Amino acid sequence: MENSKVNEIVTRALEDIEKADKGDVINEIRNRYLAKKSELMGLMSLLGQMSPEERKDFGKLVNDAKTRISEMLNKKQQEIAQKELNKRLEEEKIDISLPGKKVELGGRNPFYLVQDEVIEIFTGMGFSVASGPEVESDLFNFELLNIPKDHPARDMQDTFYIDNNTLLRTHTSPVQAHTMQEAKGQPVKIICPGKTYRRDNDDATHSHQFAQVEGLLIDKNINIGHLKALLTLFAKKMFGEKREIRLRPSYFPFTEPSVEVDISCFNCGGKGCSMCKGTGWIEILGGGMVHPNVLKMNGYDPEVYSGLAFGIGIERVAMLRYGIDDIRKIYTNDVRFLRQFEKKA
Ligand code: PHE
Repeated sequence: MENSKVNEIVTRALEDIEKADKGDVINEIRNRYLAKKSELMGLMSLLGQMSPEERKDFGKLVNDAKTRISEMLNKKQQEIAQKELNKRLEEEKIDISLPGKKVELGGRNPFYLVQDEVIEIFTGMGFSVASGPEVESDLFNFELLNIPKDHPARDMQDTFYIDNNTLLRTHTSPVQAHTMQEAKGQPVKIICPGKTYRRDNDDATHSHQFAQVEGLLIDKNINIGHLKALLTLFAKKMFGEKREIRLRPSYFPFTEPSVEVDISCFNCGGKGCSMCKGTGWIEILGGGMVHPNVLKMNGYDPEVYSGLAFGIGIERVAMLRYGIDDIRKIYTNDVRFLRQFEKKA
């Protein structure tokens, strides 16, 4: 009688398991048939009324039933889990034949295109790249460059002072003094690209913040011929093989002699046009031979060493090179402007 009850429970359980199609249904069935208070476990209480012989057989019967149901539950549970996984994989399948999202690549700002090109040209001639602080001391920005206090040249470079002795550098030339002092009397051959600041009113050709590339070469027997040769090569590489340069006398307190450097106009080839204002020449940079006082103040004997220096305005070169009519376009990040410099793949 009890035995057939056990078999009947097993049959019912297996039918239920067979029909189950979800994980939580399996849990519910496990609870219904195998929990302590389930019908099957309840039959265990009958053991007390049985003879030892019957008890052994019946106990085994109930245990086998429990094992059987439990095994079937586990098996079914795995089947359901596998089915659910397959279903999910099917649903979440990625169609790799769909075209991907396009990554939009912007153009590099022409400022950086030109700065990189200047660096490449001069490193190609054996210069290494130095750097210096943008917040500079009066000593390095002026005094060590032969511009003492009250020197009139300071007026042309009015700038942003942080206190009486600290300012935003007005040019990259203080890096000349830093580099010389670090080199401790040894030959120097560096360029230094970097930001500079002046208290200028911004307009199409002026900006209170701009950038220069400083150049400095110090060794024995350096003369102005070296300066001309270096800058001629630069002009040709930057603006085309046909370019010539001319040096005009100028004045900087830290070079003697000082020159303004013009290149033959790349627009008209030197005949005269609106770009060169009819002169055939375009001014691109300043330079000269390092002043003996500057050599001396920074640890060199001017009787033994001589040097050349130059300063190139990066925006000015970029504007000439790419025909940009307003310096502010370089800073305002208008994508319509920048898109023109996208590399076409
Ligand atoms: N520092 C100068 C300027 O800003 C440029 C320059 C650099 C001139 C090196 C001579 C030598 O105008």
